[in-house]
Amino acid sequence: MNKHYYVTTPIYYVNDIPHIGHAYTTVAADILSRRNRLRGKEVFFLTGTDEHGQKVEKAAKEKGRSPKEHADLMVGNFQGLWKKMEITNDAFIRTTDGPHIKTVQGLLQLLWDKGEIEKREYSGWYCTPDERFWTEKDLIGGNCPDCGRPVDQIREENYFFLMSKYQERLIRHIMENPSYILPETRRNEVLGFLRNNDLGDLCISRPKQRLSWGISLPFDDNFVTYVWFDALVNYFSATRYLAPHADQARHGDFWWPASLHVVGKDILTTHAVYWSTMLMALGMPLPGTIFAHGWWTVEGKKMSKSLGNMVDPRAVIDTYGLDAFRYFMFREVPFGLDGDYSEDALVHRINTDLANDLGNLLSRFLTMAEKYTGGVIGSSDNTAAVAETTDELRQTGSAIASELLSDGYWNELRFHVILERLWEIVRAANNYIAKTEPWKLAKNDPDSVRCILANLWESLRITAVLVYPYMPATAEKIWVQIGLKGLTDEAKSGGVENLARWGWRPSYGVKISKGEQLFPRIERKKAMTGEKTGEASGVAAAEPASEESNLISIQDVMKVALKVGHVISAERVKKSDKLIKMQVDTGELRQIVAGIGKAYTPEDLIGKKIVVVANLQPAKLMGVESQGMLLAATGADGVPIVLTPEKDVEAGAKIK
Ligand code: ME8
Repeated sequence: MNKHYYVTTPIYYVNDIPHIGHAYTTVAADILSRRNRLRGKEVFFLTGTDEHGQKVEKAAKEKGRSPKEHADLMVGNFQGLWKKMEITNDAFIRTTDGPHIKTVQGLLQLLWDKGEIEKREYSGWYCTPDERFWTEKDLIGGNCPDCGRPVDQIREENYFFLMSKYQERLIRHIMENPSYILPETRRNEVLGFLRNNDLGDLCISRPKQRLSWGISLPFDDNFVTYVWFDALVNYFSATRYLAPHADQARHGDFWWPASLHVVGKDILTTHAVYWSTMLMALGMPLPGTIFAHGWWTVEGKKMSKSLGNMVDPRAVIDTYGLDAFRYFMFREVPFGLDGDYSEDALVHRINTDLANDLGNLLSRFLTMAEKYTGGVIGSSDNTAAVAETTDELRQTGSAIASELLSDGYWNELRFHVILERLWEIVRAANNYIAKTEPWKLAKNDPDSVRCILANLWESLRITAVLVYPYMPATAEKIWVQIGLKGLTDEAKSGGVENLARWGWRPSYGVKISKGEQLFPRIERKKAMTGEKTGEASGVAAAEPASEESNLISIQDVMKVALKVGHVISAERVKKSDKLIKMQVDTGELRQIVAGIGKAYTPEDLIGKKIVVVANLQPAKLMGVESQGMLLAATGADGVPIVLTPEKDVEAGAKIK
């Protein structure tokens, strides 16, 4: 096992006011850092700000400040937010830091000396807000293909990094390292782009008369460095002066290459193509993985200053709590896909997963433990009366714990799957209470009650360990309330695998200490409820009546043949972001097309058991035949949730 783990976020433009999009990437890196530290790895987690370039120069001018003064003021927005969000970054890099500037210049000189940079006259279309040149054929309707704004034609001398040389090598690297770019769909996009286009050379300078706020080229003082060349180098330069053991890093390669760059899909090309080829030309190793996550919209709309709909993470945290926000972002949307933020969806998650499932489990356990055993938790040896039900719970707990401690899902950053699986333990424990009904046993079978409580304690302890990276404060609260000392300290001394092992006991006696409720249910404001249900207008009252008149007979129900299907393979339907085509075993193999592609990736579905309407007339969806229909519940905001049988059943089993 590699003992070091180096993870980065993008360095955000110092001009931006941080919103939930920035928080998303940073929390992702925080989750990974916390998980790796818990497992005993030495972690270097880097974030920071991108401070050079035209945008900062322009904004500073508008405010009557120097660019550096402006950056010094704005950087606090990020540093303050990360503090408030308890982000555990080990360092914060600013591209105006002296040692970073020196590193950029050192690398530029190296490339210049190696003949990897050339001076040329260049004429091209320049998008000022994006600070990017485009070729004629890139333009869409004469405008910037990225932001749609008008471009200017510019002719000037500039320095070019000979990026085109590395096209074939980059393709090979991506082919040979399947997890170099994740998720796979993004990897395929980059490969497609590289195979179908000629990679040009990269203009890496700006004449000072056009832009002076940047790092001077070490070999020509009339130019500053292109802001992306400067920014990407941050990942390396930080290892030389900000990382632990930076001294060693200067002499060797303690932290380089980085394990993982987490970025948004908007900046995948700069990372996958510019950064990778820069490293190749420098003769430096490439990072382990570049993961491009999806884009958050707000109630269906792109977040933008002009629309005034940017969601401030501070406000969300102040209203709903930090851990609830962290949980929501990573449970609601598969990492890699786009997501839509709404307060309704957040409240729904809090009330269901957090208050109902997890919070309730803890409070029921604590109340019963206080009542039946005076809060003392003994060994979890089974009594005959509960042996069978306990076995199920133990098997679920142990199997899921070892699955989630291992690297499988983590290597692919399948955050939502990890939470989904973890909640199976929580739900199994709630079911266990329902099945064993300890309150009925309390009088005549206290041994079984003691055993039930001990098993619930196991489930809660394992849940706390596994949920820690996502909701650190909640995990510590559970830990203390179930009578333990400190989760991270105990993981450090005893090993996290041990803490999550069914049957583990600390060296001290365990006595619970009931504390505050984890997640009180959030009641929506009255006015909001009225609006939502239409109570005020009387619409809600009318609804049940119309439902009643739509009642159907049992004969109608019997006409529908429902079957369990096993998804053998799945892929997206071309040109559709919604449709997924699956080969499903329902006793016979059939093709089913479903509009669930925004909530699920094909990989999520493969291997799942689903519920299929088996006697539906075939229909064509975007030209692809579907022989049946998959059933899904409608979650918050209309997000489909695929129905699966509660226990494993054979493909083709009838559903009545
Ligand atoms: O691009 N949804 O900085 P930036 C999800 N300085 N993530 C979002 C988001 C949204 N709506 N909006 C922003 C830059 N992000 C460069 C990076 S790195 C060497 C230089 C997140 O301030 C996401 O991670 O525009 C995206 O990639 C990043 O913020 C862009 O931040």
